Amino acid sequence: MANVAKVAILGCGARGAGYGKHMFSNPDKYKIVSICDINTKILDRYSKEWGVDSANLFTDENEFLKEKRADILVIGTQDRDHVRMCIKALELGYHILLEKPISPIKEELLALLETHKKHPQNVVVCHVLRYAPAFVKIKELLSSKAIGELRLIEWTEQVAFWHQAHSFVRGNWRRDDQTSPMIMQKCCHDLDLLQYYVGDKCESVYSTGDLSFFKEEFQPEGAADNCYDCKYRNTCPYSAEYGYIERWHEKGDPKDLWPFNVCCSDVPLTEEKLREAYRTNQYGKCVFKCDNCVVDNQMVNMKFKNGVKVNLTMTGFTAVPGRKATFYGTLGEIRFDDFADFIEVVEFGKTPVRYNISELVDTDKAGYGHGGGDVIMVDSLYDMIYNKDSKVTTSLEASVESHLMALCAEESRKSGNVVKVHEEE
Ligand SMILES: NC(=O)c1ccc[n+]([C@@H]2O[C@H](COP(=O)([O-])OP(=O)(O)OC[C@H]3O[C@@H](n4cnc5c(N)ncnc54)[C@H](O)[C@@H]3O)[C@@H](O)[C@H]2O)c1
Repeated sequence: MANVAKVAILGCGARGAGYGKHMFSNPDKYKIVSICDINTKILDRYSKEWGVDSANLFTDENEFLKEKRADILVIGTQDRDHVRMCIKALELGYHILLEKPISPIKEELLALLETHKKHPQNVVVCHVLRYAPAFVKIKELLSSKAIGELRLIEWTEQVAFWHQAHSFVRGNWRRDDQTSPMIMQKCCHDLDLLQYYVGDKCESVYSTGDLSFFKEEFQPEGAADNCYDCKYRNTCPYSAEYGYIERWHEKGDPKDLWPFNVCCSDVPLTEEKLREAYRTNQYGKCVFKCDNCVVDNQMVNMKFKNGVKVNLTMTGFTAVPGRKATFYGTLGEIRFDDFADFIEVVEFGKTPVRYNISELVDTDKAGYGHGGGDVIMVDSLYDMIYNKDSKVTTSLEASVESHLMALCAEESRKSGNVVKVHEEE
């Protein structure tokens, strides 16, 4: 009989609960035995839905972290909480699923690596795209030398205009002094994948970028500070009416779906509840009158030790979300666009071979997010602990490396200088 892993969740918001839902649906592998969240409504909801005993519900992280309560701990709190919690959890002996970004503070990243050396349990940082079939396919193509030797990558992170407004203007990640710089928050997946694809460490980075648009000087004439009261409510693409009502209808009136359930946590969602939520909360604020300070567009130029060059563009000014990239090799190109659903391999002088990404994904898993990556990653941690045949492709060290790249990009953006990722080089 398979091992059933006892699981505790620390921070059961959008991400923590997402992993929890998958675990609850797979009782042959997981049993959720304890939850800690400062929000009592969340504790109440998931203790009922998942049958967690009231004695094992906590609102105080210190109380919760006094003893080991399970085999696996999911850390789904916000960016600045992760390292403090993860260090304690390692000392208690947990295997850990740790949300990204690990931390925006270099000293904390290095302190976590030190603790991990002393307590070398399994830590999987949620770089979920490494597990998503489309991104796995690209790695396979590169490893098989389908395009010869890789020389250059052009990579674009399309944030999408509504996501920029939701997360990086009105929402949780609008201020880097409270969470992390946007290049780390949005692109630590990309930076992690890029170092994985290049197959070597990044040597130096140069970056430009700014907050160019979501500020008061661009507020249209006569606009109100809240979308509900605004004369542009039905015409502005960044209006909350579009973001949370029209888009919600476009999605088929889902009862409980991100980002609508972030604007209004009172599920099942209705049009009335969503409109009342944005009328009174931060998600209805005019995008030109928020207290945001993170960028809305940024470019990062990277040189890797093996000579491969990469240009990463992150922009909020896109109609659709997703990543697209071109990999240039000595014998061909790989073109990739996850929104347009294709990977195309062009060997020079030959007919292109095209893969539809949606056909690579197991439809049972696709619904859970990141093209199936979320649940494949969770199950890979399980396999790493119990079956020793895991598909975990990353280490805590490699995850920290991508965070250092992000910090250097931010330093370069602010200073205008080329920044070396490792001092000694
Ligand atoms: N892997 C990914 O692709 C991905 C995607 C989005 C977000 N994230 C990251 O996941 C993390 C969580 O994001 P989210 O969208 O779920 O946020 P969220 O706000 O929905 O969830 C955070 C939860 O932590 C709880 N919390 C806060 N402080 C706490 C404390 N001291 N003790 C216990 N609980 C506490 C909050 O009440 C909330 O329920 C963030 O670090 C974010 O950057 C990762």
